[in-house]
Amino acid sequence: MGNNTFGKDFCVTIIGESHGAAVGTVVDGCPAGLRLSIDDLQGELSRRIPPDPILSSARREKDEVQILSGVFEGYTTGAPLTLLTLNKDVRSQDYEKLKVVARPGHADFPTRVKYGGFNDLRGGGRASGRLTAPIMMAGAVAKKLLENLGIQIYAHTIQIHTVRLEKLLSSAEIKQKAFSNSVRCADSETAEKMREEILKARSDGDSVGGIVECIAECVPPGIGEPFFDNLDGDLAKIAFSIPAVKGFEVGLGFQSSSVRGSENNDPYAVVDNKIVTLTNNSGGILGGLSNGMPIVVHVAFKPTSSIPKEQRTVNLEEMQDTTVQVTGRHDPCIVPKAVPVVEAAVAIVLADHSLRSGRIPRVIGRKELSELSDDTKPQPHR
Ligand SMILES: Cc1cc2nc3c(=O)[nH]c(=O)nc-3n(C[C@H](O)[C@H](O)[C@H](O)COP(=O)(O)O)c2cc1C
Repeated sequence: MGNNTFGKDFCVTIIGESHGAAVGTVVDGCPAGLRLSIDDLQGELSRRIPPDPILSSARREKDEVQILSGVFEGYTTGAPLTLLTLNKDVRSQDYEKLKVVARPGHADFPTRVKYGGFNDLRGGGRASGRLTAPIMMAGAVAKKLLENLGIQIYAHTIQIHTVRLEKLLSSAEIKQKAFSNSVRCADSETAEKMREEILKARSDGDSVGGIVECIAECVPPGIGEPFFDNLDGDLAKIAFSIPAVKGFEVGLGFQSSSVRGSENNDPYAVVDNKIVTLTNNSGGILGGLSNGMPIVVHVAFKPTSSIPKEQRTVNLEEMQDTTVQVTGRHDPCIVPKAVPVVEAAVAIVLADHSLRSGRIPRVIGRKELSELSDDTKPQPHR
């Protein structure tokens, strides 16, 4: 059957459907003693929805996070964390006619075949962008864990359709400015051009895609589990679990196939008594292991498949050609919403691998034994 869990030590299970009662996550393996509040989770989850309503779907969920288990007196207990948010703003009637008409570019047809037609198709069911809310919640926990190692993760939009960010921005600029506009591009001039591109597509009854860049700084060298749980492999795997992702690259990525070794290799140097590389074409990963340089990944999103423009399709019951115009509430571009989702996904992988490599302890801090009740103190032999 399906596999709804990611990670070996920091295990993230995603639950719920787009128009079911709730979406959520069970995170098993989070160390005890991590300070975690509703505000930590809420703050991250709220970053998913861009403030500009014309750039994203009209579905407006409040996304109030509930912690059902795993936190006691403000700290994680070491037991599985259960986090969820209720689905309240649902309009399932929009999906009535899609029961038998497969949307081109969406998951409807293969999902119907795989689950024999029993799948919950309302709002795309499990194949909905709504399922990125649980990734955000699990990512919020992962980010808090990684803070203990000093690891910082941030993402921004570098391309919408054909508009590409050409300026080289510092990490400080990206951190400060990426979320200052609705397309989540740190350069305001390019952001405006990207916004126009989305609005143009929207007014044509169409959609556009784009690329998100994500950077993880201060990742210690040596994290990753070759052979098959390479750090880049796991990052690619989680990226492709995000709906609508069609491309992934680390560092120079596809471009590295068209340069010479002498151009691609990152020369080593000793700076401040630390081994660094003078360029970062490897994107911080060599041999499936972090090399201590910033991890840089690019994630490509296709244009949203549900568009009002008329498209050819088939009626699955009548086995007849037909056409479809997808109405309902859909994002004309997925990318702005996906920017913090990519951050969360990268955080989940780094939390898992940091635990596996022993960089994060199983208990963070320790209550003094004197704080424990008498009968839990170690007793003398006699
Ligand atoms: C944040 C986010 C929002 C999305 N919103 C929509 C949407 O409004 N309409 C739509 O058709 N697809 C949307 N998608 C994409 C579909 O879920 C996705 O295309 C579908 O599951 C098919 O999977 P695939 O594109 O990965 O092959 C969204 C994806 C993400 C990550």
